Amino acid sequence: MNLIENKIKELESKRVNWNISQETIEFIINSLLFDKIKVLEIGTFNGYSALWFAKVADEVVSLEIDPERFSEAKKNLQGVDNVELILGNALEEVDKLDKKFNVVLIDGMKSEYMKYLEKVLNVLEEDFRIFVDNTISHKEKIKDFFEYLENSNELEWQETGIGDGLIVIKRKS
Ligand SMILES: C[S@@+](CC[C@H](N)C(=O)[O-])C[C@H]1O[C@@H](n2cnc3c(N)ncnc32)[C@H](O)[C@@H]1O
Repeated sequence: MNLIENKIKELESKRVNWNISQETIEFIINSLLFDKIKVLEIGTFNGYSALWFAKVADEVVSLEIDPERFSEAKKNLQGVDNVELILGNALEEVDKLDKKFNVVLIDGMKSEYMKYLEKVLNVLEEDFRIFVDNTISHKEKIKDFFEYLENSNELEWQETGIGDGLIVIKRKS
């Protein structure tokens, strides 16, 4: 078993509530059909989901606002060379990125979901998938986010019902 698999197993054995469910991240990973997978993650926490992405992606950029969680993730991702961890507020850091992404995981603070979405729309490739976690468990907290989606002429979305609720957003065809 390689470094990433070992680390995932270790974090799995001491999983905390904030980690995305294994079912959810497996669904995400298995649904990625891009030739080159470029992931932007909002909300690194201890690096659990970033490690999963590292298994399949060409590059991963993961943003974390909290210095202690950032340090913990750094340790957990030591030796993993396709993940860049950035310490900072996603609401400021996304604007500074000079890359484009085709996969986004929104898993930060629920009250900021709509703002994250507005920001990430500026750093997307033509074809993309945005995954948004906790869309059933925190439905009440993200009403503005749903309203934004409902009113969007560019985006279509689907609630998969997986884990705590997982929305997949793509460009309207
Ligand atoms: C639910 S946890 C992420 C879990 C992680 N994706 C995983 O599966 O292990 C949410 C994380 O988002 C971080 N966060 C909250 N607001 C943020 C912001 N504005 N910018 C970057 N990170 C943020 C929190 O500090 C927390 O570590």
